Amino acid sequence: MKVLVVGSGGREHALVRQVSQSKRIREIYAAPGNAGIKDLANIVGIKASNIIELADFAQEKEIDLTIVGPEGPLSLGIVDEFTRRNLKIFGPTQKAATLESSKSFAKEFMKKIGIPTAGFKTFKAAQPAVDYLKKAKYPTVVKADGLAAGKGVFICANLTEAAEAIKLIMVEKKFGKSGNEVIIEDYLEGQEMSFIAISDGKRVVPLVTSMDYKKALENDKGSNTGGMGAISPSPRIDKELYDTIMKSIIYPTIEGMKFEGKAFRGVLYAGLMITGSGPLVLEYNVRFGDPETQAVLLRLNSDIVDLLEGSVDGNLCDIPVEWEEGVSACVVLTSKGYPHKYEAGKKIMGLERAKALGVEIFHAGTVFKDNDFYTAGGRVLNICARCSTLKETMSKIYDAVSFISYDNINFRQDIGKVVK
Ligand code: AMP
Ligand code: GLY
Repeated sequence: MKVLVVGSGGREHALVRQVSQSKRIREIYAAPGNAGIKDLANIVGIKASNIIELADFAQEKEIDLTIVGPEGPLSLGIVDEFTRRNLKIFGPTQKAATLESSKSFAKEFMKKIGIPTAGFKTFKAAQPAVDYLKKAKYPTVVKADGLAAGKGVFICANLTEAAEAIKLIMVEKKFGKSGNEVIIEDYLEGQEMSFIAISDGKRVVPLVTSMDYKKALENDKGSNTGGMGAISPSPRIDKELYDTIMKSIIYPTIEGMKFEGKAFRGVLYAGLMITGSGPLVLEYNVRFGDPETQAVLLRLNSDIVDLLEGSVDGNLCDIPVEWEEGVSACVVLTSKGYPHKYEAGKKIMGLERAKALGVEIFHAGTVFKDNDFYTAGGRVLNICARCSTLKETMSKIYDAVSFISYDNINFRQDIGKVVK
């Protein structure tokens, strides 16, 4: 069969690699893909946001299954467009993707269904929001309603900071239409973690657990990033917590969305805060995590095409899913300065020597020119491995990392360490 993967990051490189291992595959396409993906798939020069052109392409090439990586095209309705044209595509419909694309929808949904989440109020205008903030308890959390590339959440220590966040979101419109509404949320204290599952609208297959390292600096300090690394399994989720998350969050979300007439097919990624009174949902994502996917897929021992097709076809539970024991991990190499300003265009050296150690290298932000790879993004490369123990996995990855160099290379040295 022919598969099209939409997206251009390390997550999509890992998805393409996994798809390429399926016995059912004849051809793989990636739109727009990246310099690493080009060895495994035919690169298609269509942006992930151009859903009409992607559907035209899939029709013309008779693509049997399309897999969507990022949230952008999902929230634009790529699944609806493909489905209208009888093209098979893995992911939630536009309506179901509202779980990620509108935080106010997600919060109201959780309140209605009884899924544990922080107390909140939503506002459609700046002044009432500021009035409310005058009486709020601090720290407090201000969030833009819509997608904001992970930058629309502000933890505010006092009224001045909170009013500033409102101004940025609602008056200056830093995130465009995503700031038409704000959510003001109680600040939660606890341990942050995530939980990722696949659903076919009715049934749920959880992925093996994973944990990402969100902060830019060692010991979980510095700015929030898209993710500086990941490990699987998560050392923070034991059997009891796992069962609680499934029972109080994952199943009710899938059942609730079905009840709302927005049956959820695709990846449900719950960002959680584990507080003294149990797990609460911070946010939903409706797509695979990046870089969690790079680590998790190294443990998948079943055909990913069967699994994702099972979600689309609504027969997920007939698909056997097997996972490898051991521990997998991913270390993200970045351009110094990420997630803020950074320079790109630096020549990357040592990839072959690193690969010879047996690690998987996924490209996130690179370009290939004149026989060399150059940096082309904040997150540049993902160095991943799976061994029997966390210690072995991390030393294999960091040995490989030591062979890779470019001018402004940066990465966290403590991926694998669990900060309590
Ligand atoms: P979100 O995009 O909603 O997950 O928020 C981004 C980050 O902000 C999360 O990963 C948390 O670190 C933090 N955060 C969000 N909501 C809260 C909250 N209610 N209390 C404390 N921290 C939060
Ligand atoms: N690693 C966090 C995310 O994919 O949203």
